[in-house]
Amino acid sequence: MTAGTGDIEKAADVLRAGGLVALPTETVYGLGANAEDPAAVARVFQVKGRPPSHPLIVHIAGAEHLGDWAEDVPETARLLAERFWPGPLTLVLRRGRRVPLEATGGLETVAVRVPDHPVALALLSAFGGGVAAPSANRFGSVSPTTANHVRAELGDAVDFVLDGGSCGVGVESTIVDATGDVPSILRPGGVTREDLEAVLGHPLAVPATSAVRVPGQHPSHYAPRARVVLVEPGKVVAEAELAQELGHQVGVFLPPSFAGAQVKAHAVVAVPGSMDAYARGLYGFLRELDQRGCDLIIASLPVEEGLGLAIANRLRRAAGPRLSE
Ligand code: TXA
Ligand code: MG
Repeated sequence: MTAGTGDIEKAADVLRAGGLVALPTETVYGLGANAEDPAAVARVFQVKGRPPSHPLIVHIAGAEHLGDWAEDVPETARLLAERFWPGPLTLVLRRGRRVPLEATGGLETVAVRVPDHPVALALLSAFGGGVAAPSANRFGSVSPTTANHVRAELGDAVDFVLDGGSCGVGVESTIVDATGDVPSILRPGGVTREDLEAVLGHPLAVPATSAVRVPGQHPSHYAPRARVVLVEPGKVVAEAELAQELGHQVGVFLPPSFAGAQVKAHAVVAVPGSMDAYARGLYGFLRELDQRGCDLIIASLPVEEGLGLAIANRLRRAAGPRLSE
């Protein structure tokens, strides 16, 4: 059930009193606190189990408030804000006077965005300030895309949950570092690289997303309880059946090319052919396979164009550190 006006007022009061509100956005649900209240912000880190050096995104009601939260905003950042806000784009800028260091993990930069969700925007207007909010999940695990995901994962640790239905985008915002002369993508997300490049008129650097990692340096993120193993799309069925035969409870992300195939595995998710639908469903699929008792998830990466770039990034990070490809 979607939050009404009374719920919005109540949630704004909870924020004013230093409490935590889970709020829907178009990407994922956030765990929000008054960005200007260091004690409330500290509780966000505590509830998430997140290291305090890991900065939060400050959510604001509109680009017209940007000057309160960021300083020396470059023209390119203004252009991106004008084009993509409200929307799944986060801009990293120089920290403004209203942002305490607690919210930025001690950094002199701040991540800011205007979410494109009527409930989030209503809350931000009613509250009147900035809401510091990471995704409303425990550190390292799968982000929530429904209010029930939040309740199941955080329970009483949240003072109020605003229900805004299922998130329409399903993966987090794209984070762009706009502090320097040339913007760069820090995290692929809901606004595609292609859309950003079309507005900027030049190619953008994207962080390396190779699956080859030094063990221990990259703890897995966006990760379900089940181990995620990535294989070539053509090998998904064979690898899944082999692992099932070896005694695993295998969950399969069945690529569209195998649609309708009978797979001898514990649970099968049919991956949507449209990247919009895949992004929207991704975190729900991971949660579902956990719930169905899978200990291993076999998946492949989509083509890394459009939203496929963010989906592949999340799957790689869910698969976590590995010694070799
Ligand atoms: O879609 C989203 O972005 C969601 C919704 C709730 O808005 N939020 C979200 O927050 O994904 P979180 O905390 O789960 O991820 C935010 C990322 C973190 O990886 C953090 O390191 C990065 O943003 N970040 C925040 N401030 C930063 C800064 N000043 N410089 C570089 N990275 C920053
Ligand atoms: Mg997160």
